[in-house]
Amino acid sequence: MWRLFLSQLNALFLSAPHQSLNRLVSMWRVFMQASEFWDNRYSKGKKDSNSRVEMPDLNNPILQRALGHFGSIENKTVIDLGCGRGASTLFFAYYGVNVISVDFSNVAIANLSKYCKDNDVRNVTPMKMPAQEISKLGKVDFIFGSMILHHIEPFDEFVRFLRNVIKPGGKGFFWENNDEIKH
Ligand SMILES: C[S@@+](CC[C@H](N)C(=O)[O-])C[C@H]1O[C@@H](n2cnc3c(N)ncnc32)[C@H](O)[C@@H]1O
Repeated sequence: MWRLFLSQLNALFLSAPHQSLNRLVSMWRVFMQASEFWDNRYSKGKKDSNSRVEMPDLNNPILQRALGHFGSIENKTVIDLGCGRGASTLFFAYYGVNVISVDFSNVAIANLSKYCKDNDVRNVTPMKMPAQEISKLGKVDFIFGSMILHHIEPFDEFVRFLRNVIKPGGKGFFWENNDEIKH
């Protein structure tokens, strides 16, 4: 538990070096509650579309747009940040990109790892890791994120951190919802 606490605190410190210890501890509490929330969400089994790992529609316009934005993908590596059920991961892997799928939910990573093993998907590396620690993975060509940035604070510091994880000439693509979306 203490090891986990220190590692998460370190992750928060890396992404928010100017925060006080009190603020970091309270951020850590929020962080732990959030990862439990997502573990619960992804524990519902294959019958639940919120937890099922499956290939998305290959014509998904957002994912196709991201692929177009990245351009040449041969021998390239993308981090799928906050991969969740892994739909975007499987899309990029289908097109031959090497994908490092990062999420702080144990269950999300376990589900995706099992899917890849069962389906012999070899170009996906699922990593249970807070987004704030991805610099440990070294620099990558691309970072993709779907509905993740709004979970991470402080946003401006995290963006500066992300910039250092992308190779020179590399690209990021983030898809977020906003107030104008109507359900
Ligand atoms: C709204 S879901 C999006 C999942 C997936 N990208 C999608 O579009 O279906 C947000 C995901 O980000 C993960 N997440 C949230 N904060 C995170 C953090 N600080 N580090 C790593 N993963 C995080 C959650 O576990 C969850 O899987």
